[in-house]
Amino acid sequence: MSPACEHVVLVGLMGVGKSTVGARLSEVLGWPLVDSDEQVEAATGRTVREIFERDGEAAFRGFEARALAEALDAPGPSIIAAAGGVVLTEENRRRLKAPRIDVVWLKASAATVTVRAVEGVHRPLLADDPAGVLARMAVEREPLYREVADHVVDVDGRSVEEVTDSVLEVIGAC
Ligand code: S3P
Repeated sequence: MSPACEHVVLVGLMGVGKSTVGARLSEVLGWPLVDSDEQVEAATGRTVREIFERDGEAAFRGFEARALAEALDAPGPSIIAAAGGVVLTEENRRRLKAPRIDVVWLKASAATVTVRAVEGVHRPLLADDPAGVLARMAVEREPLYREVADHVVDVDGRSVEEVTDSVLEVIGAC
């Protein structure tokens, strides 16, 4: 198989299902899954939460950018479950817009992600007001996800299988 794109990248807010849909896509396509948060944890030997607590958000964003760059520079094809914040940096957005990088925005309402995102231990930014934080993030980030996305897939009220099928449809011959 000779895919038309090198990597498929899933972007979206925390809790949209990038890792779970990514795992399912990886199974179906037989491509490796690269999860940005796991990459950061493997590279630093620390958890995402520890990095935020000890070094702060700016340091984490540096590790996040390096993880994205490494994943995109690696030989493909692969599925990349990008950390929710990658779109905040202009350099990351530039990389995501490169040819042969197919970006799928998993789009959900703030209500959907609030229910799911609170389950993750690697999300210190949510603190004690997950709904408020995610609502603000949605306002700030949606234009940025839209800017980098080649495709948009709605996840509200849909199962992992349904979302995976939609992603397979939109990436087509990739
Ligand atoms: C973050 C998302 C998290 C993790 C960190 C910050 C963000 O990853 O990288 O807590 O700023 O959106 P997921 O998107 O995989 O939850």
